[in-house]
Amino acid sequence: MESKRKLIFICQGSDCKKSGSKSLNKKIKEEINSKGLKGQFKLIKTKCMDCCKSAPVVIIGEYFCKKATFEKVISQIKKS
Ligand code: FES
Repeated sequence: MESKRKLIFICQGSDCKKSGSKSLNKKIKEEINSKGLKGQFKLIKTKCMDCCKSAPVVIIGEYFCKKATFEKVISQIKKS
């Protein structure tokens, strides 16, 4: 059975944490909940994805977001 929810992977490794991935995770979660998108997206915290130079790293579906910001992630979520 295929899931209809789109997966969002957010790195919580040490370099990404230093670059603010923890607060980014919180903001994305709040945005998804406030916009009523809870059933459509699943936020998954990961360990280091080995792209630390691009921290913070977020993957939305098939889109790999380097040096992710809240705005970049939200605009990608809207496109999905
Ligand atoms: S800590 Fe996030 S990619 Fe390494």
